[in-house]
Amino acid sequence: MRKKLHARLPDKFDDLIAQYRKAISEPFSENVQSNLARLRMNVHIIDKGLHRPDWEFGHSDKCYAEAKKLLVDSSAADRDPTFKWADKVLREYEEAEVNGERSKTPESDFRQQDFVHANDLERFFASRTTCRNFEGRPVLREDLMRIVDAGLQAPSSCCRQTLKVYGSVTPETARDTARCFHGFTGFSDSIPSTMVFCADIRPYGMPGELFYPTFDTALAADHAALMASALGMSMAMLCWIPQKEREERLRTLHNIPEYEAIVVGAVCGYPKQQARKPPRKRVAEALVLN
Ligand SMILES: Cc1cc2nc3c(=O)[nH]c(=O)nc-3n(C[C@H](O)[C@H](O)[C@H](O)COP(=O)(O)O)c2cc1C
Repeated sequence: MRKKLHARLPDKFDDLIAQYRKAISEPFSENVQSNLARLRMNVHIIDKGLHRPDWEFGHSDKCYAEAKKLLVDSSAADRDPTFKWADKVLREYEEAEVNGERSKTPESDFRQQDFVHANDLERFFASRTTCRNFEGRPVLREDLMRIVDAGLQAPSSCCRQTLKVYGSVTPETARDTARCFHGFTGFSDSIPSTMVFCADIRPYGMPGELFYPTFDTALAADHAALMASALGMSMAMLCWIPQKEREERLRTLHNIPEYEAIVVGAVCGYPKQQARKPPRKRVAEALVLN
């Protein structure tokens, strides 16, 4: 008998957790990406402190010490914008420590007029739908890069930015990728591009942050989907249900390491026909105001 997709299989929890257990038990001191994620986390905490109106001398000492160490250790840091930002924040912190006070609260780079009007944003949200019927028109590599860049603009827990996206604009690889996902049903023959949204799970504090890689990646995927819409495309997400054979196939196809959790997939392309948007429940059903 065919196994039910949503069957409750308590023993499978162990398989799922085993990946996280393995990833966090390995030392990541050698790993540049993990170190950069930890550097961002520590610098973010210091930066957040510097923005506090009640900032006081001596806060974030531990984060400062770890950030300094990671800054030295990260051999690729000078090729990553994290480095410049970390250096600036740490300097401000050092200055404030020497003076016993901040010279001023750090300012934002943005002005009010840079923000999108709420009405425009609402219209835009309403226009995003999940289309599964695509034109054969290829997705340009540059457009996929822009979509992933939008994903990188999303918030992430402690600014860790553990996102990794395995993309394909080659129809054959895109189709093979999509086939690894249970949710790949009801799509057109044409599959112009795919993305596999993953998170490096090593920089998270486990087990308390068990779901954080999923939060972070989901937010990135949402930003990416909105950018795809803005570019006239549609990004249909594909739910990931781990299953041994499919997972091996997907990991082999894109060379996805074990320490990266596969969170969600996506097919992206120009819609042949716009999809009808399912209505949303009312705000009153979602918002409990106390
Ligand atoms: C996490 C997630 C997983 C999804 N997985 C699938 C999937 O496997 N296959 C599919 O056809 N659509 C999938 N979708 C798309 C949803 O069905 C769709 O977003 C929902 O029905 C609302 O429609 P709309 O996006 O057009 O507003 C997924 C969406 C999300 C957020």
